[in-house]
Amino acid sequence: MDSQEILALALHLANQSEVPADTTINVPARDVRKVLFGIDVDAADLLFAKEKGYDLVIAHHPTGGSAVLGLPEVFAKHASILTSHGVPKEAADAAVREMQEEREPRVHAENYDHLPSMARMIGIGLMCIHNPCDEIGRRLMDEALRAQLPEKPRVRDAVAVLESMPEFRSALTHIVVRMGTTDHPLGKWAVHHGAGTNGGVPVARAAFDHGIDTVFYIHIDAGALRRLWEAYGREGPRNLVVTGHVASDSIGINVLVRELRARGLRVDTYSGIVDV
Ligand SMILES: [Fe+2]
Ligand SMILES: [Fe+2]
Repeated sequence: MDSQEILALALHLANQSEVPADTTINVPARDVRKVLFGIDVDAADLLFAKEKGYDLVIAHHPTGGSAVLGLPEVFAKHASILTSHGVPKEAADAAVREMQEEREPRVHAENYDHLPSMARMIGIGLMCIHNPCDEIGRRLMDEALRAQLPEKPRVRDAVAVLESMPEFRSALTHIVVRMGTTDHPLGKWAVHHGAGTNGGVPVARAAFDHGIDTVFYIHIDAGALRRLWEAYGREGPRNLVVTGHVASDSIGINVLVRELRARGLRVDTYSGIVDV
C-alpha cells in the first residue's frame, strides 16, 4: 500500500467521500510495509522511526500543513451532530461559529511546517488521519450505547456500557461524570466527538438549551467546565460525561490499525494508542 491508499481506506471505514480538512499526507510514502502509528508525533519520533526502518509514520492529531490550518473547518461537524439530535440549525451554526472564532487566531499563528519539514529532511513518510478515525470512534460509541442501554437508563448505565468497550477497560483513565450525577436519568443524549475537538462551552450550551440532557465529550478543559458549572449547576439536571482522551481516540484508530494489519502491513502503535 502507499500513503494515498491508506488514506482512502480510512475514508472508506469512516463512510466519508472527502478528505476532512484536519487530515493530510505531509510526505507521501510508496510501498509501505512498516508503519509507526501514534496519537501525537514529534520530530524525535521521526528520527527513531527512520532508524528502526519504518516507511511511514501516521499520527492521529494534525501534524502540520493543511491539517493544522484546516482544523477549525472540521468544527462544522458539531453542527451536524447537534441538528441530528434536534437542535435548531441556527443555534448549532452559532455554536460552531463561536468555536471557530475562538480557535482561528491560534491556528493562524501555528508553525505548520515544523514536523513536515523534519520528515522531508529525514526522508520518511508522514501523514495524519484525524477526523476519519474520530468519526469511526463516535459511531462505535453511539452504536454501543444504542444497543446496550437498558430501559429508562441512568447516567451510570451509559458509563457502564462504554466501560465495557475494550479501550476503556484497558486505559489508565476512567470515564468521569464532570457535571450532573451518575444517578440522574440519562434522558436525551448525544456523543459529541469526531468534530475536530470537544465542543467546549458553545456546543454543550446549544445541546443543553435545546433538549439534550446528557452530553458525552472525550475531553474538556477546566475553564470551559467551570463556565458550564456556573451556567447549569455542578450537580444540576444536565449531565456532562467525559470519556477520556487517548482511550476514546484509540477506538477509531484501532479499527484502522486492524484493517491495515489484515492487509499485511506491520503496524506498531505507540504514543497513547490503547492497542487492544
Ligand atoms: Fe481524536
Ligand atoms: Fe484527540
